[in-house]
Amino acid sequence: MSQASGSLAVTDLDHEAAFLNHVIEGLTDMPKQLSSMYLYDERGSKLFDAICELDEYYPTRTEIGIMRRHLGQMAAWIGPACLLIEYGSGSSLKTRLLLEHLSRPAGYVPIDISREHLVRAANALDEAFPQLEVLPVCADFNQPFDLPEPRRKVSHNVIYFPGSTIGNLTPVDAEGFLSRMAVVAGRSGGLLIGVDLKKDLNILLPAYDDRRGVTAEFNLNLLRRINRELAADFNLKNFRHEARYNEQEGRIEMHLESRREQVVTIGGTQIEFAAGETIHTENSYKYTLDEFEELAANSGWTVKQVWTDPKQLFSVQYLEVAS
Ligand code: TRP
Repeated sequence: MSQASGSLAVTDLDHEAAFLNHVIEGLTDMPKQLSSMYLYDERGSKLFDAICELDEYYPTRTEIGIMRRHLGQMAAWIGPACLLIEYGSGSSLKTRLLLEHLSRPAGYVPIDISREHLVRAANALDEAFPQLEVLPVCADFNQPFDLPEPRRKVSHNVIYFPGSTIGNLTPVDAEGFLSRMAVVAGRSGGLLIGVDLKKDLNILLPAYDDRRGVTAEFNLNLLRRINRELAADFNLKNFRHEARYNEQEGRIEMHLESRREQVVTIGGTQIEFAAGETIHTENSYKYTLDEFEELAANSGWTVKQVWTDPKQLFSVQYLEVAS
């Protein structure tokens, strides 16, 4: 794979081999699947930014609205002198809004696996908040990592995890993830988290299948990327984006459906598709407030306060480590 770093393109053979293995494994599974982490190459990240601006995609806009309305209360729950730890590189408007309202934060630790995103976002925040000590950590937050120590005294740790990314994990994985967050947060630690809510399908489905086809393009970009980086021969016209709601599991599922019977070659391996067969690319779980409270309780957290919008589309919640 070629990755932009400065102006030189670096061919990362380890990464390419792992990518090929994942793709072949996923496409020889029954049913076929591909990991959603590969959706976010450079073009994929731009398309996702475009999704966040769509009329149909309510989560981003709604979460920002909730933040704007309740920042005072959120900052009060978080309290003074916290070490704010963000899972993700934190370039977003939401992070800035929060930092503007916190009382004397001891430091800000953005954590991201992409060094490039991390460095860019951390530098921008460092410039925007000259009083704030910014301590970026390049790590996979699914693995154990050490927290950097700021110069100022830390009263307690607070994790920020916006965007309902928790919904992209299965409930079992979400429990494991939230439990590890409780360890990182530690004694009297907090978590400010965005959680998307169950709602009418007339609102939910268009959010994952917009009129202009940006979401379809984002999903299909995965096949484009496999063609480019793994010299595969997917014909994009022979696949179509599908978003369906799985009532049983309480989740939106993203699929790429084969429009006909066909064979695709990837790195010398031939993969057969039946007409109508799909590749499952992503899940987005939706919770009721009660369901999420239970999930949190099973992971060592107590929900202290929930903020929603008037239509109850989305929630931002403040949790504390259960004592
Ligand atoms: N985290 C986003 C969500 O669950 C991801 C997402 C939005 C997505 N639209 C998508 C993933 C379309 C795959 C395809 O809302």
